[in-house]
Amino acid sequence: MNNYLLAPSIIAADFTRLAEEIAACESAGADWLHVDVMDGHFVPTITVGALFVEACKRASKLPLDVHLMISEPEKHLEVFAKAGAGNITVHVETCPDLVGAVKKIKSLGCTAGITLKPATPASALESALPLADLILVMSVNPGYSGQAFMPEMIGKVEELRNKLNALGSPAYLEVDGGISIETLPLMKNAGANVFVTGSAAFKHPHGTAVGVRALKEIASGKPPSQ
Ligand code: DX5
Ligand code: ZN
Repeated sequence: MNNYLLAPSIIAADFTRLAEEIAACESAGADWLHVDVMDGHFVPTITVGALFVEACKRASKLPLDVHLMISEPEKHLEVFAKAGAGNITVHVETCPDLVGAVKKIKSLGCTAGITLKPATPASALESALPLADLILVMSVNPGYSGQAFMPEMIGKVEELRNKLNALGSPAYLEVDGGISIETLPLMKNAGANVFVTGSAAFKHPHGTAVGVRALKEIASGKPPSQ
């Protein structure tokens, strides 16, 4: 067991083979499944909802890490918790009462994550930082898989790592967007310990299991297998 976790972003999977894709993630050492919920309002795209989370729950024993890119997430927390989310992450831009949202998520029996768009400063998370179980730094503008990594976000990870250390917080520091075998080590060095990865896992030329295994080995610092 090591402290670096890999969370493949399931919206980059082939949905016609969802159970196989999930099985490939599991066999290749994925730690969590990351589910990107988008509403076509807070972000331009519409992806999946609670029914999809519930299907993933039936197909996998891995914890489900649900990233809500939706307006007014407070209205939907209960349904995602019931669907089987292990962690629910909300955006500070969508939550006027961030502390209240974190408390509500925890009261539903889930761990609570908070996140922010690349343009939002880390200081926007300050009020909820001591309470959160997970802090997510977006390294692309939320909305799509397959975008280019924003290297400017390395500094934001360092800043949040320092703040968490100063608080003595054991919260996970997760990164999401453009994470690949090249960019993962940069975020790891900056202090991240959970890596979300869509395209690099599911669009790997040799298949999902190969992609996930390669990323997991880099995350955990093991020498690559042949
Ligand atoms: C972006 C999503 C990400 C995305 C990751 O809005 O939150 O989770 O699917 O995909 P890649 O790794 O391809 O950037
Ligand atoms: Zn995400």
